[in-house]
Amino acid sequence: MRTLLIANWKMHYGPMKAGGWIRAFRRERLPKDLDIAVAVPHVSLAASRASLGRASIPALAAQDAFWAQDGAFTGEVSPSMLLEFGVQFCLVGHSERRIYLGETDEMVGKKAATLQAAGIVPVICVGENEAQLKKGEVSKVLKAQVAAAIASLKPDGKTPFVFAYEPVWSIGTGKPCPPQKAKEAHEIIRSAIQKKFGQSVAEHVRVIYGGSVDAHNISEYVTTTGVNGALVGGASLDPRAFALLCRTANPA
Ligand code: 13P
Repeated sequence: MRTLLIANWKMHYGPMKAGGWIRAFRRERLPKDLDIAVAVPHVSLAASRASLGRASIPALAAQDAFWAQDGAFTGEVSPSMLLEFGVQFCLVGHSERRIYLGETDEMVGKKAATLQAAGIVPVICVGENEAQLKKGEVSKVLKAQVAAAIASLKPDGKTPFVFAYEPVWSIGTGKPCPPQKAKEAHEIIRSAIQKKFGQSVAEHVRVIYGGSVDAHNISEYVTTTGVNGALVGGASLDPRAFALLCRTANPA
């Protein structure tokens, strides 16, 4: 399975700065054996695409999409609109959206299914918060989040889906989840997928890790069985640092 690294700019870099990041990143030496994507704010998709031209490294990703293709949904952006920019991946259910915007498991499931139907790979973010970790509820939380997220997905493989395990307590805190703990969480996620779609589908779903990943710890994750890549926030804001992280993930 190819390793997938996604830069998540979050709410950084409007259209004035997006092109500069893309150009600086593309000037770097980038490994060919990795899939690399960059999740930019919606308003920066056009500038990012303009800087990329037809190039597909990095692939373009969005940070969210609505669950309908058009209609009376003020302020929302649909998967078919994202396709106009050549978006290949889209995050859904990031914990920051769950926390600050009240996104529910059910909304995340609807968004993932609409993206998949449009041909965009949903990158579904799940993960427990600190209180849930302390109460020993990691497995319960992950199983519920995964079950709701895949409720309307198709296992046909035409447009795959990706899971990102992002424990909330490790996001932006400099406290990365130990790789062996991440491995256990990824196993819980994979077995929830297996329960619905069977083993061969579950084996082929990429489950990536996110939370305080940087160039110093990336190799610990990508060499851990069942960890198929990373979703990187803070350490992706500098294009050179993110390129170094990509090279470190795949030194070949
Ligand atoms: P940090 O890498 O800044 O911890 O953020 C992780 C994240 O939320 C990526 O989506």
